[in-house]
Amino acid sequence: MSLEQEIEKRRTFGIISHPDAGKTTLTEKLLLFGGAIQSAGAVKSNKIKKTATSDFMEIEKQRGISVATSVMAFNYREKQINILDTPGHKDFAEDTYRTLTAVDSVILLIDCANGVEAQTERLMEVCRMRNTPVIIFINKMDREGRDAFDLLDELEEKLEIKVRPLSWPIGIGATFQGVYNLHRNNLNLFSGNKTNIEKDVISVDGLEDATLEEIIGEEEAALLREEIELVDGVYDPFTRENYLSGEVAPVFFGSALNNFGVQELLDSFIEISPTPKGRETDEGLVNPNDSKFSGFVFKIHANLDPKHRDRIAFLRICSGKFERNKFYNHVRMDKKFKFANPTSFLAQDKSVIDEAFPGDVIGLYDTGNFKIGDTLTDGGKYMFKGIPSFSPEIFKELVNDDPMKSKQLEKGIKQLTDEGVAQLFIFQPGNRKIIGTVGELQFEVIQYRLQYEYGATCHFVPKRYHKACWMTGDEEAIQDFFKRKASYVASDKDDNLVFLAESPFLLAQAEADYPKITFHKTSEFKMEGKTLT
Ligand code: G4P
Repeated sequence: MSLEQEIEKRRTFGIISHPDAGKTTLTEKLLLFGGAIQSAGAVKSNKIKKTATSDFMEIEKQRGISVATSVMAFNYREKQINILDTPGHKDFAEDTYRTLTAVDSVILLIDCANGVEAQTERLMEVCRMRNTPVIIFINKMDREGRDAFDLLDELEEKLEIKVRPLSWPIGIGATFQGVYNLHRNNLNLFSGNKTNIEKDVISVDGLEDATLEEIIGEEEAALLREEIELVDGVYDPFTRENYLSGEVAPVFFGSALNNFGVQELLDSFIEISPTPKGRETDEGLVNPNDSKFSGFVFKIHANLDPKHRDRIAFLRICSGKFERNKFYNHVRMDKKFKFANPTSFLAQDKSVIDEAFPGDVIGLYDTGNFKIGDTLTDGGKYMFKGIPSFSPEIFKELVNDDPMKSKQLEKGIKQLTDEGVAQLFIFQPGNRKIIGTVGELQFEVIQYRLQYEYGATCHFVPKRYHKACWMTGDEEAIQDFFKRKASYVASDKDDNLVFLAESPFLLAQAEADYPKITFHKTSEFKMEGKTLT
């Protein structure tokens, strides 16, 4: 098969949702429809149960599960589908943001009773930053939920994206009868059957078909006609271009638990979703069909065996063909590496692969050479852009409890931050270390892993920082700012200067006093010029 055909075959996406909306259930059903698994219950939830937030063993167990479900690949209708898993727990949101840099599109899952929830909004922000195409699936229609029009209004308002329903529900909860597919003009009737994956589709000759009354009832047919007239009046016709540019999100309704609407979703996904896209580097766009291989690391997972410090780096292939045992250029280190055991993840099985193509994600065994954002190429010296760091929300100072183990602590914290577990800011002189995270859970993970993997003990002292802001702009102004506010300016792991502002007021004051400096709340500004080193 030619490189073009391999690219054309692939669809790489992520499912994002607020915890409990049904992501695990939907993933499993997609695998079931794709024939990758034979029975429900095979996909373990990667969520950390709410009650277990301080249970280390639970965290460890979940880390194991999340390696297994990091990438789930399966074939469906001659396409190779790669689902990249995103952690459901909000404390691991940063992981999800990074995974979103490695997908070409997303399916956003909404619970029909809860509508748009906090985490959904933040995840959509990240999608909007890169104009990622989004398909929305409104789940749990077998349960009482909100009015469909209200839900659509809320989606548009809170997610700042236009929507276009491609299916329309007939009733909800106890009265749910199924959906009318606006794309194909047929009825998909709901039977509440959790085991049967065949669908019960009835062709009707458009909405005027008189059998509609017989099938769903007179009142329901009248209501359906009325609602669809309204849908057609309110929402612009669906075009694939508007979806691909990230402007309009098509919406489907269903019930993942009952296998309902899942095949419809999968079929439409195959039809409209993008093939692997090109990606920006500091030397311009790299297209997937460039013959030379390139890829970037978006996730690093420490191995479960604490005695061996090897890790798995997850590499998204961006162009050309990756081959086992061929030397590639690790651009940041300017060093050549070859990989004897690159793995792919077909459903639940890991297997060694000989080659992989754009859109694929492979696991590379690593002994500490990779950082998140690293680029591998077949010769090229460029780096991929846009693996952002976001300002953490919780800051604590890391205090070493055992001076004899300083080296171990230094090494451990460096490796953990390379993995992306947390962000590290260092104040000089004094080498004071501030750890920044999006959730409390990471501090427990760090303390635990430093102790068990590196033999270093530590404790944390909370700090009242409001935001970490990366600074760019006039060099003289930055130096002046640094001199005056030295106790609030630290460097990040790449030696970028970061202002740790104690309050929104102090940040606003700094912005007013130093108009020549831009204070960034994400390191995404690097996309504009600076390279990730
Ligand atoms: P998550 O990964 O997004 O966190 O959600 P998950 O799939 O684990 O689903 C959360 C709960 O919602 C589960 O119930 C699941 O069975 C249920 N669910 C998912 N899809 C549907 C649906 O279409 N209809 C209905 N009625 N429920 C749905 P649970 O009781 O929390 O877990 P479990 O004991 O069933 O596993």
